[in-house]
Amino acid sequence: MPAISRRALDLGTENAFVVLAEVNALIRQGKDIISFCIGQPDFHTPVNIQDAAVKAIREGRHGYTPSAGINELREAVARNVGRSRGLAVEPGDVVVAAGAKPFIGYTVLSTTDFGAGDEVIYPNPGFPIYDSQIRTNGAVPVPISLRESRAFNFDPNELEDRITPKTKLLILNSPHNPTGGVIPRTEMEAIAEILRRHEQIWVFADEIYGRLVYDGEFCSIASLPDMQERTIIADGWSKTWAMTGWRLGFAVNRRLAPSFTTWITNTESCASHISQWAGVEALDGSQDDAQRMRDIFFERRNLIVRLLNQVPGVTCQSPGGAFYVWPNVTEACALIGARDSEEFRVRLLNDAGVAVLADIHFGPRVAGEGQHIRFSYAASNEAIERGVERMADFIRRNTVARASAA
Ligand SMILES: Cc1ncc(COP(=O)(O)O)c(C=O)c1O
Repeated sequence: MPAISRRALDLGTENAFVVLAEVNALIRQGKDIISFCIGQPDFHTPVNIQDAAVKAIREGRHGYTPSAGINELREAVARNVGRSRGLAVEPGDVVVAAGAKPFIGYTVLSTTDFGAGDEVIYPNPGFPIYDSQIRTNGAVPVPISLRESRAFNFDPNELEDRITPKTKLLILNSPHNPTGGVIPRTEMEAIAEILRRHEQIWVFADEIYGRLVYDGEFCSIASLPDMQERTIIADGWSKTWAMTGWRLGFAVNRRLAPSFTTWITNTESCASHISQWAGVEALDGSQDDAQRMRDIFFERRNLIVRLLNQVPGVTCQSPGGAFYVWPNVTEACALIGARDSEEFRVRLLNDAGVAVLADIHFGPRVAGEGQHIRFSYAASNEAIERGVERMADFIRRNTVARASAA
């Protein structure tokens, strides 16, 4: 039998998809599950964007496009990114792909050499694809710990300690998946200050949740002095305009745009032509629906944080952005006799029908930081109320059972 490569067998994945399969299996068995697993808006794509896609199909705009994307879209992205981040961006700096996600791999491929010992620093916990793309492309993963005491930011001194002459890339993600944390301007300035002393380091700024900031301001590291040239801004349509399945995202960096374009020619050829016209409308058309969705997320954040803080053994910070909360369940685990957050998650799913992800789905647990789970609040107020009530009830029932058994 022909062998499967070690690289393929070792390739990491998004464990959210694994948990989702578990959840779907329970739903198929007729179980009533309230799910907080999915990292995508629970809204329809705005109608004006849908209409632009239908129009593109009817007008025959459904063939291949240039690998970097259609000019109209690159121009719209350049205007939009320039305006929102206060930068001078040319359409030629912009490359469009099937989501922001492919640029994670293209960036590792374009900034490190396989097996050369090139190091990439990235947040832990973090989006699991950072780790899997770093490893599979033969670079050295260097996780940096996010701390609850710092509102889920890393300590810039720890960054300084991790940098070596081999460090080629730093990945930042603000607002952050899974914690919802936002890197404040002062922290971003401290990071930029360190990077100025290390000319060899690129920055991948994953800004996919950049429009979903509820407290304070969104700060792109590219907008700080000397940072634009070395920063790859990655963003897209998935979260802001509820377009996850349209598969459309972009990266902005003048020097790397030609490399990204060549990677795309070698892989997907181009992003969906139809989605690209929809993307133009999303950027240039009415923003009313995007604003409405953001306002709803903001309300839900306040609701879920308030409710989770009433659950026995749970404390939950109010994260500044995205649509995730990252409650600390260390005490709740102790109350119900769960070894860790993963056992807590499995029991919560099977006993109470509430589906969440555990911290270990986003990287190894950080020593001294306790146990966490992730809720995506891309769910209705009613689901949030019922889901959190079920969790509180689950903890109470299991605490009582232990107490009476003792
Ligand atoms: C941090 C982060 N980056 C990138 C992505 C990928 O987004 P896209 O749908 O644009 O590929 C996600 C999606 O969940 C994400 O959470």
